Amino acid sequence: MQRILTGIQSTGIPHLGNLLGALIPAIGMSKKSQGSCFFLIADLHALTTQHTNKARAQLSYAVAASWLALGLDTKKHILYRQSNIPEVCELAWYLNCFTPYPMLANAHAFKDKSSQLAQVNAALFTYPVLQAADILLYDATHIPVGKDQQQHLEITRDIARIINQYYPNLFVVPQATVQEKVAIIPGTDGRKMSKSYGNTINIFLPERELKQAIMHIQTDSTPLETSKNPDTCPVFKLYSLLATQQAIAIMRKQYLAGGYGYGDAKKELFSCIINRFKNARKRYNHYLENIDQLEEILCAHEEKARTIARTKMKIIRQALGYSAEASTLYAR
Ligand code: ADP
Ligand code: TRP
Repeated sequence: MQRILTGIQSTGIPHLGNLLGALIPAIGMSKKSQGSCFFLIADLHALTTQHTNKARAQLSYAVAASWLALGLDTKKHILYRQSNIPEVCELAWYLNCFTPYPMLANAHAFKDKSSQLAQVNAALFTYPVLQAADILLYDATHIPVGKDQQQHLEITRDIARIINQYYPNLFVVPQATVQEKVAIIPGTDGRKMSKSYGNTINIFLPERELKQAIMHIQTDSTPLETSKNPDTCPVFKLYSLLATQQAIAIMRKQYLAGGYGYGDAKKELFSCIINRFKNARKRYNHYLENIDQLEEILCAHEEKARTIARTKMKIIRQALGYSAEASTLYAR
């Protein structure tokens, strides 16, 4: 059976790129899924860069509130903080012992930072192995992520295949599901929207700040009267992912006709975001104002996740010869 799992690091409030590239598609998939889906808040991954406990904990709540605000069904699916399922660390160690060094040394996310190795911690290097453990611990089959995570998914698949050569069928080999249309959402400077570039749009901000962020989207200097190319403009790109087909067609015409400024388009994009996320914004604020409620949901879900993780861990320990149990949980 299909089992969907995905994760978001608790290193920032989820931005529009995260929402369109990962959260919304994942929730869409979960609605069609027969079984429970797994949504993890990667607060152990966050520790590779975020060393302030309070900020990390608060951002975990922000990530949880975002999932709930966007409509995650808490009766059917499981939303949990990675750190409350410590089995994942044990599994990560086992996986490390089978992971070829060059595979990690070649990972883009690590290579990007390898020019400043003195500032890189060891966990940043083994980051993809912990991610593989997240996935393999739950026998997940489908992993909805943005395009930038595809290489991490390839690493997960390779690790699973390598270990399965020693212990046949121990792990399910998962696959990434990337929706091409939302694979790379542009940020306010036209590059990929990312926390690390400081070019994000946070739809949960108060209206005034949200408007400011949208008005700051960089556009070219084509004069107001002149016709503009919608297909190279980040404002239009974002609008086309959020508005109705009819509204998109109208904006396209206005771009091409001239006499329509980028400022007009930005105001339209702002209204569109406010309308589209009206309820999500309310729910997000509700959860952040009621942390007890959020904590209650997370704790209940973490218990469920842990039961599943423990069962899988017993099988893994037995396969690796670390279990004293006489019964045969691990069957090739
Ligand atoms: P960031 O780059 O801001 O640090 P994360 O690495 O925490 O974002 O990404 C969380 C999820 O959101 C991942 O599945 C990632 O692929 C997706 N994602 C992040 N930024 C974008 C983007 N600009 N376009 C599409 N998907 C994105
Ligand atoms: N590395 C992912 C990111 O930065 C977050 C993540 C952690 C994840 N564990 C995962 C994504 C498991 C998918 C599945 O976005």
